Amino acid sequence: MTKVFPSLLSADFLKLQDELHALEKAGVDGVHFDVMDGQFVPNISIGFPILEAVRRGTSLPIDVHLMIDNPEAYIDDFCEKGADKVSIHVEATPHIHRAIQKIHAHGKEAGIVLNPGTSIEAIRPIIGDVDFVLIMSVNPGFGGQAFISSSLDKIRELKILREKLGLSFRIEVDGGVNAETAQQVVEAGADWLVAGSYFFNQEQYAQAVVTLKGEASS
Ligand code: DX5
Ligand code: ZN
Repeated sequence: MTKVFPSLLSADFLKLQDELHALEKAGVDGVHFDVMDGQFVPNISIGFPILEAVRRGTSLPIDVHLMIDNPEAYIDDFCEKGADKVSIHVEATPHIHRAIQKIHAHGKEAGIVLNPGTSIEAIRPIIGDVDFVLIMSVNPGFGGQAFISSSLDKIRELKILREKLGLSFRIEVDGGVNAETAQQVVEAGADWLVAGSYFFNQEQYAQAVVTLKGEASS
């Protein structure tokens, strides 16, 4: 069953509580929370105060995507301030295994993220230790970018590897996901979809959930 996680990066921050209520009503599976540090990626986004506000404002699972250098230094804080899932980039730290252990020590789900230019080989040693793998289908840093179609091969490759190893991690896809690309990534093997600009540009969030999941519209 495909899950949908709207990226709050494209939400209206002046009306965050209204947005969260609308997302709950629309039947999303959680919210995706993008953290950028201006170092690992060329943009700065949101951090602890907003995470705490979102935690107070909803009971939906919060999927924190850390696009920051040295993520292990901040994992405790993100877990304590409201994250349910935390994902870290394999490119962002030489201590990826320790970082995953840290997330698990808080009882949270741990994810590993791959940039478009990173091959699955890079996560092979730790693939048995994660709850989900996030395939970036744009270069991280900004919402509203075009889907990179070579990501589809990577999703297929990852799904095959999961079967071969008998593992059960979920495959999440983030970047340029819209009505058209959602269908392609789900066919390729994605379990979880992150959608920012497409989702929040829709008038009816409930319809966006249905469309992204590829369910028949009512
Ligand atoms: C990009 C972020 C994404 C972003 C997706 O660096 O990780 O989560 O919000 O936005 P769209 O869906 O507009 O590509
Ligand atoms: Zn993201």
